[in-house]
Amino acid sequence: MIAIEVHLAADAAATMRRDVRAGLSTDPKELAPKYFYDERGSQLFEQITELPEYYPTRAERSILAERSEEIVAAAGKPQTLVELGSGSAAKTRHLLSAMQDAGCLQTYVPVDISEEITHETAEALVGEYPGLAVRGLVCDFEHDLERIPEGHGGRLIAFLGGTIGNLYPAARRDFLTRLAGLMDPDDRLLLGTDLVKAHNRLEAAYDDASGVTAEFNKNVLAVLNRELGADFDLDAFEHVALYDAEEGRMDIRLRSLEEQTIRLEGLEMDVSFAHGEEMRTEISSKFTYEQLTRVYGEAGLAISGWFTDADCDYALSLARPS
Ligand code: SAH
Ligand code: AVI
Repeated sequence: MIAIEVHLAADAAATMRRDVRAGLSTDPKELAPKYFYDERGSQLFEQITELPEYYPTRAERSILAERSEEIVAAAGKPQTLVELGSGSAAKTRHLLSAMQDAGCLQTYVPVDISEEITHETAEALVGEYPGLAVRGLVCDFEHDLERIPEGHGGRLIAFLGGTIGNLYPAARRDFLTRLAGLMDPDDRLLLGTDLVKAHNRLEAAYDDASGVTAEFNKNVLAVLNRELGADFDLDAFEHVALYDAEEGRMDIRLRSLEEQTIRLEGLEMDVSFAHGEEMRTEISSKFTYEQLTRVYGEAGLAISGWFTDADCDYALSLARPS
């Protein structure tokens, strides 16, 4: 059974116009990373996950392949798996299979802003897990968090891939606090986080030799061209990905290669870029165990499980409402 609710509707376009207008009017300019993920952006992210330099997906997959049975048992054999930012749910199969083997699997709730990939994922999963009910939500998980369906028999709420790292600390705290407020005592959060490591490995992961991450980054300009009638020339910007050690995060930007003025017809707005001017398109925070326990504590959550890959590059943590 598949039921997918779409909650983007009319105000998504208005929100995008407001966000982009505000982001292009500040100094420095900034765009929100959620706008990467149109159909092409989701495909490019899938390509990123296969790059030799991009270790997080492989590391997380190795943990899930080896520890899903333990994770499902520690989460109390939940009947429902909710997944925030589910995308293609490629690694999620390990959790679903462990739930199936434990005899508890009933419902999967993918939550993603990208409608195409959510439909494809739902179709694929009902084929692979006979009897599985898929209740998808196409929405902005920050805006629509409260739409997550109630659980009967416990929920495991997975937020994989390190996507939490794409939120600024204040937004992250608000998001986790709201999530904690929605959790019943027997619900568990399974959070994927990339860990702090050598800067050269981090920068290579976000600036791959084949240029896929650069194309992913520039895709946000193609989204603005299509959705807001803008005239960005993608070749007039270059991809920049540097580690900010003080903030503990990758800082991802687009740098203007010339002095230029962009027209955004849909916003009736002209925006000027100086030669060399940088516009941030994403941050990707990296964590330590100590930091994460603090982040959980501030949000009313307590860590109840910690699982890393063999190289300690990446962690999955289980948390419960405290
Ligand atoms: N969980 C997958 C995909 C990670 S990519 C993995 O680990 O590989 C990030 C995913 O989050 C994308 O599928 C993107 O469409 C989704 N996403 C990003 N911002 C979002 C938001 N604000 N609301 C809902 N989904 C979002
Ligand atoms: C989705 N998110 C966790 C990715 C990350 O690593 O921050 C997005 C990404 N950006 C560039 N490469 C991958």
